Amino acid sequence: MTLRHLRAMALPPALAAAFLFSPHAVAQDDPDVVADPDRGRVVYQRIGYCVTCHGWAGDGKSGISMHAPVGANLRESLLDAEALAGVIQCGIPGTGMPYHDSAAYRDDRCYGQVMADFEGEKPPVRGKTFREKQLADLVAYLQAHVVGLGAPNYDECADYFGTSAVKACAYLKTN
Ligand code: HEC
Repeated sequence: MTLRHLRAMALPPALAAAFLFSPHAVAQDDPDVVADPDRGRVVYQRIGYCVTCHGWAGDGKSGISMHAPVGANLRESLLDAEALAGVIQCGIPGTGMPYHDSAAYRDDRCYGQVMADFEGEKPPVRGKTFREKQLADLVAYLQAHVVGLGAPNYDECADYFGTSAVKACAYLKTN
């Protein structure tokens, strides 16, 4: 899914615009917090379970030993750090993409909406709540290893799976 799609499909355009330029979408306000992509990978895999929907490679289809992924191809995402953090915090209402800010939809920090606004519709899905540092690490991971990269290759897969690479990444061996 592209940013254009995010604007056009998932959200009413006015809300999307408000969100994209809203200060709430800032990943971290404290410049002393140094984001760590390696820790972010752990959030991706085992804390936020992003991997179950987006796949190990973030492409929404690399589902080796995962449940069939159903998420967007994050490798093609056009979102910058701030917008990534915003989507992770607020989720995408009406889709499976969960929110990870415990205050989301309690107040109107996300798209100007609260839970009551979804009466009669599918309510936003709640994910695990992240600390600010976990969110920053996760965004750093996405930027270092997922967003903007092309199709996943064997080396990347081996880096991800470590000792289980032989089995997990066999499908990417070209010879
Ligand atoms: C239950 C499945 C599910 C889980 C878990 C999940 N996502 Fe998603 N995610 C989706 C779906 C589905 C979409 C596409 C929604 C749409 O159609 O607009 C999406 C969209 C996104 C987008 C927007 C991409 C773009 O360019 O517009 C980002 C970023 C994202 N997910 C990151 C994450 C991260 C990081 C995690 C883990 C914290 C995560 N997701 C967990 C299902 C999931």
